Amino acid sequence: MTTYAVTGATGGLGSRAVEELLDRGVPAGDVVAVVRRPEAAAGLAARGVQVRHGDYSQPGTLPGALVGVDRLLLVSGSEPGQRVAQHTAVIEAAAAAGVQRIVYTSIAHADTSANPLAPEHRGTEEVLQRSGVPATVLRNSWYAENYAAQVDQYLATGEVLGAAGEGRVSIAPRADFAVAAVAALLADDEGSVDGGPVVRELGGPGVTLAGLAAAVGEVTGTPVRYRDLPAGEYAAALQAAGLDEGTAGFVAAIDASIARGELDTGDADLAALLGRPVTPLADALRAARG
Ligand SMILES: NC(=O)c1ccc[n+]([C@@H]2O[C@H](COP(=O)([O-])OP(=O)(O)OC[C@H]3O[C@@H](n4cnc5c(N)ncnc54)[C@H](OP(=O)(O)O)[C@@H]3O)[C@@H](O)[C@H]2O)c1
Repeated sequence: MTTYAVTGATGGLGSRAVEELLDRGVPAGDVVAVVRRPEAAAGLAARGVQVRHGDYSQPGTLPGALVGVDRLLLVSGSEPGQRVAQHTAVIEAAAAAGVQRIVYTSIAHADTSANPLAPEHRGTEEVLQRSGVPATVLRNSWYAENYAAQVDQYLATGEVLGAAGEGRVSIAPRADFAVAAVAALLADDEGSVDGGPVVRELGGPGVTLAGLAAAVGEVTGTPVRYRDLPAGEYAAALQAAGLDEGTAGFVAAIDASIARGELDTGDADLAALLGRPVTPLADALRAARG
């Protein structure tokens, strides 16, 4: 019997990962959902999943959350600036609890990327490496949901506005990343310690933002064009549209990262974990729009 734990089990990726473990035949009693709000996971508890309180920011909650866990899916936290300390607390508790493998959700090309989100993932990867716990690092590119949420705005303006130039972003639906994470968790040949963590660069086929605009047109039946701006002008346009300065700069920096190719992973590693092609972009946009 192997016990699997998933952190962030109340979130989009973690909840899908728990469902995938159950769909793959893991008994509910062998699945531990580590959550900071147990009341939000009452539905999982009712189905026999072990729901345990574990808060990345409260290290004292983590040993109890990880008792008896063999393999852990550590879903990266959602509080920028806190995450290296938070993830370190989880990794240290996992090592102390005798967890035999950690699968961690990182970002594409975390080791070399100048993406503003990369440093915390790189820092976490270094902690994982030093922990001695066999690990798989899933360097996830961009969720289709990030763009699907903006489709109404694209339609209202008739354009996708950005600063990514000809850069490609490897978009895939969050569910594909969750299913792949479970595949990595279940596989017996993942996770090395001598050579450091196994690294998988995960995403869909790289697409330019012009390609994204074409996919939006295909899905909605309304033509949408891509208009490329210098990053500074794009940030100013976002501010003019109502974003605060910090958020606008962040969004523009993500596009600059795409322009540098830092979110282009290709689809080979994700398709290999899925055992099927990555969900096509148009299908992912359609599904996310419901
Ligand atoms: N690749 C991408 O495009 C992309 C996009 C967005 C996010 N991400 C990253 O991928 C992660 C998973 O994505 P997602 O869509 O599942 O995000 P999400 O829906 O925001 O879920 C984040 C999960 O982390 C939990 N969490 C946050 N802080 C915690 C803490 N201090 N202690 C314990 N649990 C904590 C949240 O718990 P609560 O339910 O209690 O809040 C939630 O379950 C995100 O957290 C973020 O690091 C990637």
